[in-house]
Amino acid sequence: MAYTAEAPAIAAGDDPMVPRIGRVRRRVRELSDVWTLTVEMEDGRPLAFAPGQFNMLTAFGVGEAAISISGDRDRADSGLIHTIRAVGPVSGALTRLGPGDVIGVRGPFGVGWPVDAAKGSDVVIVAGGLGLAPLRPLIYAVLASRKDYGRFALLFGARTPADILFRREIEQWRRRLDVEIQVTVDTSGEDWYGNVGVVTALVPQASFDPQNTIAYVCGPEVMMRFGAAALRDAGVPDTAMYLSMERNMKCGVGLCGHCQLGTAFVCRDGPVFRNDVLRPLMAVKEL
Ligand SMILES: Cc1cc2nc3c(=O)[nH]c(=O)nc-3n(C[C@H](O)[C@H](O)[C@H](O)COP(=O)(O)OP(=O)(O)OC[C@H]3O[C@@H](n4cnc5c(N)ncnc54)[C@H](O)[C@@H]3O)c2cc1C
Ligand code: FES
Repeated sequence: MAYTAEAPAIAAGDDPMVPRIGRVRRRVRELSDVWTLTVEMEDGRPLAFAPGQFNMLTAFGVGEAAISISGDRDRADSGLIHTIRAVGPVSGALTRLGPGDVIGVRGPFGVGWPVDAAKGSDVVIVAGGLGLAPLRPLIYAVLASRKDYGRFALLFGARTPADILFRREIEQWRRRLDVEIQVTVDTSGEDWYGNVGVVTALVPQASFDPQNTIAYVCGPEVMMRFGAAALRDAGVPDTAMYLSMERNMKCGVGLCGHCQLGTAFVCRDGPVFRNDVLRPLMAVKEL
């Protein structure tokens, strides 16, 4: 089911069901309801990960939630970075943790974005809302060896200008001459002079060779469906598109069945799926 082995496994000797203890070093507010936490592991061992992988984070006394890693894999020793939207009890408690607070970390889990698969090809990233967070490690990886890739387009959609995640960083990336960045919002205010409309409308405007492109899509499920359709209309085959799925997670290691998607487990076989693999899974009635 998995298409690549680009995923570091849990370190030998670690029980994947037992959280390692970390401490929050830094907490940054990104948006009204989104925070980024930098976590240091108490045992001092950095946590190697592949772009697109996730951890199960524990807010002790409250519970555990799957959260993607949003930092730079090449800087894993400077802390483990997660960007979290407070939507419920666990994510709310995680986002209230401050410097020095204890946090539980299990992972990294899952199959991430195939970074090397795109070498020699154009790269198109289509991100919606918080979907930019799991894609950020991939962006860092492509930028770190930019010459290995063809053209690079990042298409990002947010609900309003106030919902643009990682805004300052997007501005920095935009200054590079070797990246095409397009940002759109669903609803603009008076001070917005950029694109207005859904992110999928940006696909036909981007410069890439559809026959030699690898596309990465992450965002709300409906946005990913339309994003994949727009890429297909532009000529990108399903075998060259990767989407990251979210399902309810409990164990994170393919044991409990909570994250079942058709015949696959999102935690073990995903969360990143190639679209020709994903489409039949989405068609299977969940068991
Ligand atoms: C592989 C994977 C990676 C993930 N990465 C991240 C990440 O990087 N950052 C992050 O913030 N979340 C991420 N999530 C989502 C996160 O795990 C869930 O939001 C989690 O359920 C939050 O737990 P909770 O107890 O706070 O809320 P819950 O009690 O589970 O949910 C509270 C309410 O919010 C709704 N809800 C749950 N999740 C979402 C969502 N994602 N968007 C909108 N509404 C939602 C629920 O339907 C419910 O109504 C990821 C999930 C998966 C499977
Ligand atoms: S979360 Fe238990 S099988 Fe995926």
